[in-house]
Order: sequence, then C-alpha cells, then structure tokens
Amino acid sequence: MKRDFLSIPDFDRDELYEILELAHRLKRGEYREQPLAGKTLGMIFEKSSTRTRVSFEVGTYQLGGHALFLSSRDIQLGRGEPIRDMARVLSRYVDGIMIRTFAHSMIEELASFATIPIINGLTDLLHPCQVMADVMTIQENFGRDLSDRTIAWIGDGNNMANSWLNAAFRFGFELRLACPEGYRPDPATLERARGAANVIVTADPSEAIRDADVVNTDVWTSMGQEEETQARLKAFAGYHVDAQLMSLASEHAIFLHCLPAHRGEEVADEVMEGPQSRVFDEAENRLHAQKAIMVRLMGGAPGRTGSASNAR
Ligand code: CP
Ligand code: NVA
Repeated sequence: MKRDFLSIPDFDRDELYEILELAHRLKRGEYREQPLAGKTLGMIFEKSSTRTRVSFEVGTYQLGGHALFLSSRDIQLGRGEPIRDMARVLSRYVDGIMIRTFAHSMIEELASFATIPIINGLTDLLHPCQVMADVMTIQENFGRDLSDRTIAWIGDGNNMANSWLNAAFRFGFELRLACPEGYRPDPATLERARGAANVIVTADPSEAIRDADVVNTDVWTSMGQEEETQARLKAFAGYHVDAQLMSLASEHAIFLHCLPAHRGEEVADEVMEGPQSRVFDEAENRLHAQKAIMVRLMGGAPGRTGSASNAR
C-alpha cells in the first residue's frame, strides 16, 4: 500500500520521530545508502520556489535517484488536463511526485488517483515539509523530545500556521498563535489540534511570545494573495517581529522563518541577522528532513512502494 505525505498527521507520532531521527543521521553523514537508485521523483510546481525545488532535486540525487522539474506552465496540467488523468499517467513513469499547488483538494485528488507516493511541497492550506525541517531545527537546539516546548507563531494564520497546528496535534507541544481577526488559521485544523495540545489563539503578539522557546513568523502575503497586499500591510502592522518583541521570549529562544523573508515587514533585519536566528539551519534542514521522508515513502524495494519501478 503506497503512503503519501500530504500533511503531518499522515504519519503517527512514532513514525514522525523515526523520520526526524533519520534526518539527523543524514545530516551527520551516517546514512549513505541510495535507496532511490533507478527511481525518479516528478516535481510539479504551480508556484515559484527556491528552497523546495533545490532541496528536493539535490536530495533525490544524493539518494541515488533522478528528479524531474515540471512547471505547470509547460505541462498539459496548465492547459486544463484533468488531475485524475495526469495522476494515472505519471504513475506509469515516475516513482513519486512532489507537488506545489494552490487548492489542497487538488493534491488530495492527485493522491487518490496516483498509485505512487505524493508529497506536499506546499498548498494554500499546508506546508508540511517545511514544518518537519523546523521541528528538526528545534530538536537541534532543545533536544529530541518536543512535548515540553512552547512555540509562538506571529502573523498570518496561513499554510505554515496550519502545519504548526498539525505538528502540535502530533507532538503535543504548546502552540501560541498571534493573528489578527480575519487572518486566523483553518478552523477544523485548529479544533483538531486543540484536542491534543495546549493551543492559544490571540490577537496580541506579546501574549503569544512571552517566555516562548521558539518564535516563528512568515510573510504577510502568501503566493497567490498578491492582490490583497495593501489590506494585509494594514492588518498586520502590529505583528512585526523586532528585537523588542523578541526580548519578551525566553532568553534561550530561537527565531525561525521559512523564507523568503520581507525584512521591515514581518521581521526586522536585526532579528534575521541576530544571534537567536536559526533561519539558515532551518533552510538546510529542508534537505535532510525531505530526504528522510523520501526514504520512508519511496525507498522500499520495488514491490513495496507500489511505484513505477514495479513495472520495470
Ligand atoms: N520555504 C520555502 O518553501 O521556500 P521556497 O518557496 O523557496 O521553496
Ligand atoms: N506562506 C508562504 C510560504 C512560502 C514558503 C506562501 O505560501 O507563500
């Protein structure tokens, strides 16, 4: 039975900790196997990317496989070919698909018609690979067990915030989100997380950040929302993470941002470049975390993954 990674809860807590453990081993150079030898990852992008594209392509190569960049501008998807047809065709050629798209329902349809693993490289709803890298970065700074940590999210209740809620649901840490009215996270994702973790949603950034171990933010205008830029600049005016706001967090607090960042909007240059910033470790950890995810989903012997390699 093939597995997908559309959202963090697609794996249970033990599986997530195992994937993270493998990610740390990969980073230390202790895992040098090439379980993707002879396999191909299709990478479909309907939105721009630097980190996701490069880390998946490099990661696939390092695991012995080949990555194929497929921009929706160039493939028939961009001209309206049905997702269900593309899913079945690509399943005959490649061994896994990583996709960055708009509607989350699109990736769910892709996963339901494909017979190969599908990995979510960002949708309007979620960005699970990024939050796995973020969680790995937290472990590097505070140790493997995540349950005692307090994470603050300052800004938009967007795809990153929703994936943090999913991480709280699985790992059980305290999550405090400061979001303006009208920009809160997805209600169903919030409700589920509240069933498993201490989750606070407030409009006050200082309430969210007080004594937190991790301070996290993201752009105010995500890809696809460009027409809302002016309204968002107004709505988020009080949500700028600067040194003064950071001083309310725990003295050992680290700062995370998935990047790309807009200095002077959601974050001050002094925080991005300051001693608490771990943003470039975080970016590096995309590579290791995603390699671990690919080993788990696509690294089985032919016949175990349900992949295209079975047919060869
Ligand atoms: N953080 C992240 O996903 O970056 P890219 O948009 O550059 O892939
Ligand atoms: N929330 C941002 C994340 C970019 C990596 C976006 O969706 O554009």
